[in-house]
Amino acid sequence: MKISIIGAGNVGGLTAMRILEQGIAEVVLVDVVKNLSRAKASDLDDARSISEHNNVIEGTEDFSQIRGSGIVVVTAGLARKPGMTREDLLKKNYEIAQSVSKNIKELAPDSIVIAVSNPVDIMTYVLLKETGFDKRRVFGMGANLDASRFNNLISQKLNIPSSKINAMVIGTHGEAMIPLPRFSKIKGKPLDKILGKDEVDTLVNSTKNRGATIVSLYGSGSAYFAPSAAILEICRAVIRNEKRIIPVSAYLDGEYGVSDICIGVPARLDKNGINQIIELDLNPQEKELFLQSVNSVKQSINIIYPVK
Ligand code: 2OP
Repeated sequence: MKISIIGAGNVGGLTAMRILEQGIAEVVLVDVVKNLSRAKASDLDDARSISEHNNVIEGTEDFSQIRGSGIVVVTAGLARKPGMTREDLLKKNYEIAQSVSKNIKELAPDSIVIAVSNPVDIMTYVLLKETGFDKRRVFGMGANLDASRFNNLISQKLNIPSSKINAMVIGTHGEAMIPLPRFSKIKGKPLDKILGKDEVDTLVNSTKNRGATIVSLYGSGSAYFAPSAAILEICRAVIRNEKRIIPVSAYLDGEYGVSDICIGVPARLDKNGINQIIELDLNPQEKELFLQSVNSVKQSINIIYPVK
């Protein structure tokens, strides 16, 4: 399998490294910035004997190299700067996603496309619309990153290994994300049955702010270690046909009572992409939060694709 990664920034470069080190695919790293992806590819390739894998990586500015890819990961776009919301990036990254879609459609028409650039729910929608691919084959990384952050914060708080925790986050990968204590289980027990409301609220808010906290600590740019791990998790589920449930930004077509939008929900992933969208039995309060999240995504989509 060949995985192409569009955008050789921190997230793209680290994703390439993780994929190579797991030995699951060969990688093509594409970036329009002259020599950037070539430098990263050569540098990564030099670690091959030490990292003990034998997968090829190629860095290029030439989009035609993505031809025949099984998966295309789209990280290209501007990253958030301190004080900037993910939505601020909307217009600029839309233009980039539009031109990337054209290339994917032509050169990798059978690929599964994983959106990463922010605002990711909107970029997923743009990549889906502009490629015209089946809705099962285009989805976004975001909710599984948020779930991994929620997991980590729960693990720190309770001093329990993260492997014993199954955290769930749905909604947009943005200000209106929804960490779900009732659906986040610690050794099978829901978080809201283990901690009091104030402590749960603190964990929920820290999860929502985690990305922005890291942005302000870095001072420039945003997170990349956990994001690249979250991309790897999705690629692995597809390549190994795992049929695992992972929250991703998926196109909803009536599920959760919502249509024509991409937003974070749990989905079963297999070699063809999204095999099934899992509809959680949300209570009225969770439903209300989900609706707010849906509305925030819809507003952004309407900026790009105005309702006629
Ligand atoms: C984050 O939450 C980059 O959106 C990504 O850190």
